[in-house]
Amino acid sequence: MIEIITADITTLEVDAVVNAANRSLLGGGGVDGAIHRAAGPLLKDYCRTLKGCRTGEARISPGFELPARYVIHSVGPVWKGGDHYEPALLKACYQNSFEIALYNDVRSIAFPAISTGVYGYPKQPATEIAITCMLAYEDRFDRVITCCFSETDAGLYREVLAAQR
Ligand code: APR
Repeated sequence: MIEIITADITTLEVDAVVNAANRSLLGGGGVDGAIHRAAGPLLKDYCRTLKGCRTGEARISPGFELPARYVIHSVGPVWKGGDHYEPALLKACYQNSFEIALYNDVRSIAFPAISTGVYGYPKQPATEIAITCMLAYEDRFDRVITCCFSETDAGLYREVLAAQR
């Protein structure tokens, strides 16, 4: 079951929220900054022990002060025009996040729109990649949530889901 909502992902009471992180895993702006602020300083201390994360990969941490039990940190590709393996790397972010969630018995998972903010990935193709991956994994979870940060983004997700379902 894929749910498309507009909310601040740090407020969601789910097993895992996915963070659109950078390779240091030590926080930043956007959703990364929001998650680190809401989780508290122990998140950064924990992430320091993970010693970074390559683009397209995912790492899991406790949620600390978040309502979510876990944070799955995934590093999206920076958009460089589309011929630097960006589609494959973005797809890998979703797939690796789902796989690490399954390995940790996560039953409900919420994603932000990875790479579509600071990293500049065009929203339409990014949404198509996200929805394709979510459809492939939805039956293995109780809840798969796309947590958009604007109604415009949520509308695009709904449009793409309707087209792909
Ligand atoms: N809840 C849900 N979604 C959010 C939130 C939030 N609190 N804050 C921002 N977003 C949305 C943005 O509107 C965008 O749609 O998350 C999406 C991803 O945008 P970014 O957070 O800018 O992430 P990204 O484009 O992947 O860039 C990652 O930005 O913050 C830094 O440290 C981070 O270097 C990394 C880079």
